[in-house]
Amino acid sequence: MKVIQVNNYEELGKIAGEMILEQMEAKSDSVLGLATGETPVGIYRYLAEEYRNRNLSFSKVRTVNLDEYIGMDGRDEQSYRYFMNQHLFDRVDIRKEFTEVPNGKCENAEQECLRYEKRIEEFGGIDIQILGMGENGHIGFNEPGSEFICDTHVVSLTEETREVNARFFDSADNVPEQAITMGIRTILKARKIILAAFGVKKAEALAGVLKDRVTPWLPASVLQFHPDVTVIADAAALSKC
Ligand code: GLP
Repeated sequence: MKVIQVNNYEELGKIAGEMILEQMEAKSDSVLGLATGETPVGIYRYLAEEYRNRNLSFSKVRTVNLDEYIGMDGRDEQSYRYFMNQHLFDRVDIRKEFTEVPNGKCENAEQECLRYEKRIEEFGGIDIQILGMGENGHIGFNEPGSEFICDTHVVSLTEETREVNARFFDSADNVPEQAITMGIRTILKARKIILAAFGVKKAEALAGVLKDRVTPWLPASVLQFHPDVTVIADAAALSKC
């Protein structure tokens, strides 16, 4: 894995953002795999700024997001669809019908997972996938102990993840108990992967990813099996390596 150490959060956004722009330059109808959470916000900010500054277009770009809470509608402010609209989709000329986030309000979650995998295939697969990482090493919502051979599926969130994500809700009790997430197999099929990690809270998990053996108990460690991963992290996140 290639590791790029950044000096601050802004630089993380810029370096990852430039990798995405490079991908879009090489292929205007690139398929971008996107993530939510605080870590990638700076990447989307950079992309939206460069969209305004340069003569760029996202009109042919397709996007697929990693995950969504079950029970959430795109109008719910805590939904990942809402997050994506707010941070990126409403700020560039992307076509909404080319943006995919699992439908948290679907009637049949299993069917939705199958539809999602099919849609990724129809798009031609993911060219570049952005990943953040949970403090417990989860990617998307693939929690510790997840099967590696999994496509998009329904997961029950761990108490730890619900507590960490409670900061976006009124209370931990309001954090949904289940989500739809791309599986590890879906993620590993992406042609390129960027793993972004910022701050000391990610240090332990990142050390495991970069130094230890691959284990389902640290889902992000599976990235060691992928041939094209770039880790972009600050000194604090790299402090236990
Ligand atoms: C959520 C998302 C993950 C994300 C993680 C870390 O659990 N499902 O995709 O990587 O949060 O978020 P943050 O970047 O805010 O630390």
